[in-house]
Amino acid sequence: MRSASSLLLLGSCLLALAPAGQGAPAQCPGQCHCHGDLQHVICDSVGLKKIPRVSEATKLLNMQRNPLGSLSTGSFGESRGLVSLHLQHCQIRQVAAQAFKGLKKLVYLYLSNNDITSIEPGAFEDLSELTYLYLDGNQIADLPKGVFAPMINLFILQLNDNRLRDLQPGTFAGAKDLRWLHMSGNQLSVMQPGSLDDVENLAILHLDRNKLSLYPSAAMSKLRVVEELTLGNNPMRSIPDNAFQSFGRYMEKLHLDNMGLEKFSDGAFTGVTAVKSLHLDGNKLRSLPRSLDFRTITNLTLTSNPWACTCTLAPLRRWMDSSRIRPDALCASPPLHRGKQVRDSSAFSGCKVKPKKAKKGPLKRH
Ligand SMILES: *[C@@H]1O[C@H](CO)[C@@H](O)[C@H](O)[C@H]1NC(C)=O
Repeated sequence: MRSASSLLLLGSCLLALAPAGQGAPAQCPGQCHCHGDLQHVICDSVGLKKIPRVSEATKLLNMQRNPLGSLSTGSFGESRGLVSLHLQHCQIRQVAAQAFKGLKKLVYLYLSNNDITSIEPGAFEDLSELTYLYLDGNQIADLPKGVFAPMINLFILQLNDNRLRDLQPGTFAGAKDLRWLHMSGNQLSVMQPGSLDDVENLAILHLDRNKLSLYPSAAMSKLRVVEELTLGNNPMRSIPDNAFQSFGRYMEKLHLDNMGLEKFSDGAFTGVTAVKSLHLDGNKLRSLPRSLDFRTITNLTLTSNPWACTCTLAPLRRWMDSSRIRPDALCASPPLHRGKQVRDSSAFSGCKVKPKKAKKGPLKRH
């Protein structure tokens, strides 16, 4: 698997300079400045309304903060050598079919913070090398089925802060190498069963700040290697049995904060064996399910929940007693213990240690 971070670095720095290919026009486009025999063309904030023509020798074109308005078919005619294309803050509303025609070497495409409402089917045709696609901070409500299909190398897809409402099966068809999918800050209330089946290798899935009221079990059931899942700030009252099971051995970070969460099903954490960081603050939780194994946890937030300090919560207290971190968590009940910290409360002194599902033979140490 290729390393995301090393490629990311390359994208944000200037690409390494090498001697220009033959046939490069001698001129830097007006108002822009250029480096390395036109390999880098920088036209940041110069009021351009059209994409300047650059030659095949140009690898990086920075067009940030120009009032482009839209991207029509074949906007980048002869710029076939582009590897990195920066189009943030360009007031782009529409991306036409084949807008990036011919850009078969493009790896980085930045379209953040525009006004994109519609992406036409076929908009991303030819982008078979594209690895990083940034579409955050736009107004996208719908994604045509298969719109990402040309991007067989797509690794990161950034869709935060758009207006997505629904996710249909086939949305990510073809993007089989996608590893990071960011959809925080949308209006998602539904994720259809099958909508993530094409991207079963996702490692990072961000869904916080949406409108999901039900845990999307069916949509997530094919995911196998999710390491980080964020669902905070969705109005979800409960987490069902086996919610994380298909990727439970990989999941290290789970954010379930500020959701109004009232309850976990008893088997909610079945199969979860590696979680290090768990965030449950700002909910309405009174207890934690038996399937939650605390042993791997090194970062836990529990504040702003009405914890019931009864023996059901004793495993949490035992973990606190043996852990270096002892996070804040106030008892809301029973009345005698109200306002006490779980870590200090005497509510647990009479609780017995129950072995997990008694099996024959001695308990194994882990
Ligand atoms: C715990 O997790 C939060 C949220 O991811 C993070 O901001 C914080 O730095 C972590 N704390 C430690 C001690 O790792």
